[in-house]
Amino acid sequence: MVKKTTLLYTGKAKQVFATEDPDVLWMAYTNQATALNGEKKAQIDHKGELNRAISTLLFKELSAAGIPTHYIDSPDATTMIVKKATMLPLEVVVRNYASGHFVTKFNVKPMMKLDPPIHEYYYKSDELGDPFMNEAQIFALHEATPEQLREVRSLTDRINAYLTKRFNEVGITLVDFKLEYGTLKDGTLVLADELSPDNFRLVDQQTGASLDKDVFRQNRGPLTPVYQEVLNRLQEKGAAHV
Ligand code: ATP
Ligand code: TYD
Repeated sequence: MVKKTTLLYTGKAKQVFATEDPDVLWMAYTNQATALNGEKKAQIDHKGELNRAISTLLFKELSAAGIPTHYIDSPDATTMIVKKATMLPLEVVVRNYASGHFVTKFNVKPMMKLDPPIHEYYYKSDELGDPFMNEAQIFALHEATPEQLREVRSLTDRINAYLTKRFNEVGITLVDFKLEYGTLKDGTLVLADELSPDNFRLVDQQTGASLDKDVFRQNRGPLTPVYQEVLNRLQEKGAAHV
């Protein structure tokens, strides 16, 4: 049984603890929801456990599909045990359909299909407001090597293909989402952080309703039943269908 020791970091959605094993971290998923780079904040009942449950389910499935991930175990409702990684300081955003600021930036129709899907990189820095970064900027600032980024692109395409199909099977369109990667002690690149509706834009194919954090960002009602609906659908129809 892994035991947590020191609190290393309190983020906007998780607390990260060291454990007795230097290569293993304890992640506590909290109920805090933030938007607008932390300016809008609230405590949402059960969000931590719902995000932990959805993340656990998707990390397990992606691992089974051959994607290297940081996932080790989920010993209780809000905890995930993960391999400690040196994080690439990048938010890797994938867009399958136009939404959010992409719509205003290019003045295109919301939900226009983006084919091929777009990969964007944002530099993880709250002080700088997570600025957009292109590949040349990433290499010049030595945030990742060309080889690491090639691997990020290839894994991201595989993850997008898997998740798009998986959500489609349960009547949900995966509009866009954000991933984070890190490297383990031996240099292996792994998918890290979380896989939840905090970081995905999901749309119900029947009703057109948002099933993600946009409900909170845009004050469109309670978040808990929306996240519960995503979890229920994924649990009811398992990965064997994908
Ligand atoms: P944001 O919400 O913008 O991602 P945050 O730091 O507030 O930022 P949290 O999810 O609350 O996000 O915090 C979790 C932190 O742990 C993040 O900084 C994330 O990059 C980091 N992290 C995720 N997985 C690992 C891992 N396997 N090893 C080390 N750090 C990790
Ligand atoms: P983003 O471009 O920030 O959203 P918007 O288009 O509303 O400005 O995000 C696109 C997707 O990536 C969306 O599903 C949210 C997710 N995302 C995060 O979860 N965290 C982030 O820091 C970023 C940049 C994106």
